[in-house]
Amino acid sequence: IMISISQRTQTSGGLTSIPTAYNYFTPNNIHDQPVSDELFEDSIPTIDFSLLTSGTPEQRSKIVNELGKACQDWGFFLVINHGVPDSLMKVMIETCEEFFKLTEEKKQEYAGKHILDPIFYGTSINGAATQVLFWRDFIKFFVRPKFHCPAKPTGFRDISMEYSKRTWEVARELMKGISMSLGLEEGYIEKAMNLDSGLQIVAANLYPPCPEPKVAIGLPPHSDHGLLTLLIHNGQRGLQVQHKGNWVNVYSNPNAFVVNIGDHMEILSNGKYKSAFHRALVNGTDARISIPILFGPELETVVNPAPELVDNETNPPAFAGMKYREYLEMLQAKTINAKLSQK
Ligand code: SIN
Ligand code: FE2
Repeated sequence: IMISISQRTQTSGGLTSIPTAYNYFTPNNIHDQPVSDELFEDSIPTIDFSLLTSGTPEQRSKIVNELGKACQDWGFFLVINHGVPDSLMKVMIETCEEFFKLTEEKKQEYAGKHILDPIFYGTSINGAATQVLFWRDFIKFFVRPKFHCPAKPTGFRDISMEYSKRTWEVARELMKGISMSLGLEEGYIEKAMNLDSGLQIVAANLYPPCPEPKVAIGLPPHSDHGLLTLLIHNGQRGLQVQHKGNWVNVYSNPNAFVVNIGDHMEILSNGKYKSAFHRALVNGTDARISIPILFGPELETVVNPAPELVDNETNPPAFAGMKYREYLEMLQAKTINAKLSQK
């Protein structure tokens, strides 16, 4: 029987230690660096979205340039002035919070098994880089090509639908900018990846306060599948991105989107753009909620490096083509972190 982390922390009336299955940062974990307070500080690039959509031609080409640089150097960037109302972002976070407050029995109705299940509630799921469990509960649902969403709590469907539409518009504009930054026509990614019938997956993660935050992990290092992920959170810190071999804290204003490049954008760009490893730490006092939304190709689309970016002499294809669905099945079968499956 599955015991969620929120259930564990609620019923224990003040846990002082964690079950050993959650011991992640141990001396013999060679897979990850321990938590260090002396993190390399560098600033994650910020993209002013309004310049991309309504700037002058000069501003637009400057921002396309910055976008390309962010994708190349970091695979991670913040997006501001995106036009999605703060109030909608806030209510989306609050509604996800309400979801996690439902009874365990209710949430279990949404329990998932397979990566392609359109609604998937889970806890502690192991990504198999180690045998250790994760200090996280989550709910995931596919909102495109067909809209799914848990029926409870009240209002979840309507709010998720509105939020999904608004983020889809932002993602689409970003993909135009990214196409141009690769020297491709602006609609290139949209067409080549059949985005009209592509995947859009909403996830909400809950990381309850953890009595041993320096031992447990919320989510271990992984890259995201798909093309782009747009994330918001409830203001608690915990997300880190790997940059030049160091873990960098992602501090962001709650109304910015934290955006990262996925594996399929890396493939499409023939490795020019990197899907960066990121991880989520937990803390001892506050629950953290994050809501990543992932945008992927249409499932039957074969994703390979854009022929326009490949040159057999100077820049041979770095990846073999594969259907997005096959990639997901492969992740499911091996239950390993995306990037680790290729490299
Ligand atoms: C994720 O990578 O899916 C979530 C990261 C986070 O919780 O900030
Ligand atoms: Fe992720």
